[in-house]
Amino acid sequence: MTSESANPSSTPAATRSMDDIVALCRRRGFIWQSSEIYGGINGFWDYGPLGTELKRNLKEAWWHDIVRCPGRGPDGELIDMVGVDCTIIMNPKVWEASGHVGGFNDPMVDDKETKQRFRADHLQGMFGAIESEHAPAVMKFRNNLVDTTVIPLRTFIASNPSEAVSILEHDKRMQKDLGIRKIRFTPEHVGERFRIALADIGDGERCYYIDVIESGLLEKAAERVPSPYTGKPGSLTKPRQFNLMFITFVGAVQDEESKAYLRPETAQGIFCNFWNVVDTSRVKVPFGIAQQGKAFRNEVTPRNFTFRSREFEQMEIEFFIRPDQANEWYRFWRDSRYAWWKSIGLAGDNLQLREHEKEELAHYAKEGAGVCDIEYRFPFTAPGFGELEGVAHRADFDLKAHANACGKGDKLRYFDQERNERYFPHVIEPSAGADRGTLALLCEAYTPDGARPSGVFMKFHPRLAPIKAAIFPLVNKDGMPEIAEKLYMLLREKWAVQIDVKQTIGKRYARMDEAGTPYCFTIDSDTLQDQTVTVRHRDTLQQERLGIDKVQAFLSEKIGG
Ligand code: GAP
Repeated sequence: MTSESANPSSTPAATRSMDDIVALCRRRGFIWQSSEIYGGINGFWDYGPLGTELKRNLKEAWWHDIVRCPGRGPDGELIDMVGVDCTIIMNPKVWEASGHVGGFNDPMVDDKETKQRFRADHLQGMFGAIESEHAPAVMKFRNNLVDTTVIPLRTFIASNPSEAVSILEHDKRMQKDLGIRKIRFTPEHVGERFRIALADIGDGERCYYIDVIESGLLEKAAERVPSPYTGKPGSLTKPRQFNLMFITFVGAVQDEESKAYLRPETAQGIFCNFWNVVDTSRVKVPFGIAQQGKAFRNEVTPRNFTFRSREFEQMEIEFFIRPDQANEWYRFWRDSRYAWWKSIGLAGDNLQLREHEKEELAHYAKEGAGVCDIEYRFPFTAPGFGELEGVAHRADFDLKAHANACGKGDKLRYFDQERNERYFPHVIEPSAGADRGTLALLCEAYTPDGARPSGVFMKFHPRLAPIKAAIFPLVNKDGMPEIAEKLYMLLREKWAVQIDVKQTIGKRYARMDEAGTPYCFTIDSDTLQDQTVTVRHRDTLQQERLGIDKVQAFLSEKIGG
């Protein structure tokens, strides 16, 4: 892992306006709406020249630190990691086995007047019955219950708020398993039907959940919650389940047989190739497989710029371990992924690591090892945080599901030569978004500064900056452009640099401040006399003279390469 120092002083989220950041991204060519000349398309974004370099730098830093030069694991051994690059369209059976065909759903409501669509569970007030931080966990449980046997434990109608509380609180074991500390029912939920059930998730594993949707709570809530568009209660439709996968057809005929899906995550390509990797590479458990690539989700409400898009890129690791080593490897990946985001510039108060509460854990997250999110305080989530990366112990859920679904079952158990035993390895999955990461870098870098002509500069970590250095001839004559071009030709072999000969030097500095270029080298009349250039430091505005023959070494020291 890299140990480069990072920007220690974050700009407080409250002082950064998302509108200003979006405007800068548009103006300077970081990010544009996809097909903008036709009015755009909701949930799809294009990267301009600067944004493309920035996102590429993020993905390359990840690939370098994860796949090419990983550090040592908790056992002190060098980490074994290989990469794959799988297709976006896979055999549809993959998505049946993974649970996405049956369970990758969001409850959705429409505004009858404006035809706007919302995630029911995102509407304020929908989950009044159970303390709000618990509601997403309930949804998660539901989404992950695929082809499971559900054993209803208790159904009850809340005839008054305190009765409902006492029914739930009475059963201490269930309360403990669900992680419920406090239950708050309001008089509005009187008469509602709730079902508490135990789901059999195979192999003797069980998890509890409270079935609030089938009880009609969401339906009832839809009637009373005001539409965010019209502000009126009663203008929302009943919630319907909506699968997030994009459907396409393979071949000339469009029917059920030719139906396929655009992958909603890169992870399943890794799981399906686990046995190919084991057979063809010299990897042994513990080892990891990494993949970067596009994923597609027909999000009900894409929003917050690129944060929730319908087409986005993921950077995922599936790290295969012996089941008894899950705890130490989970902790290792949790801590090293958090340290990595810090090392590339998200170092201040705006980054946090949040362990999921027990009740939030998906059914594959077993006892002992956990699930956590690495979160960033985006201007639109402030004072709260939004997920950047999740680190989850997925146990052997996926490998087993594919081994069973493809009909080879137990034959696909991994053979551990050292221990002379066969088993399905457990998996720790650090799964990050490249677009969310890029957005966090943009938000973090945005630094208002009234003292500069641009009024703002982008304080990117040098490793991530789209342009590492700019070369300016002070005037476009007296041999200065020729010297500048010679320096530019030398530096561009190693770094993304730009030469700019137009406009006043102040305007050129302003452009580079908005692009987040850490260093500018100016060739002036002194250069002609003593072969030195002016170096301008982006963050401090400090200027110094440096021999033109020292520029390359200077950049190597500051940026690497
Ligand atoms: N394989 C596990 C998985 O896909 P996830 O939490 O659904 O987990 C992982 O996604 C990461 O992908 C998220 O932390 C986020 O950074 C990114 N991501 C997920 N949905 C996204 C969306 N609609 N738009 C942009 N990024 C998204």
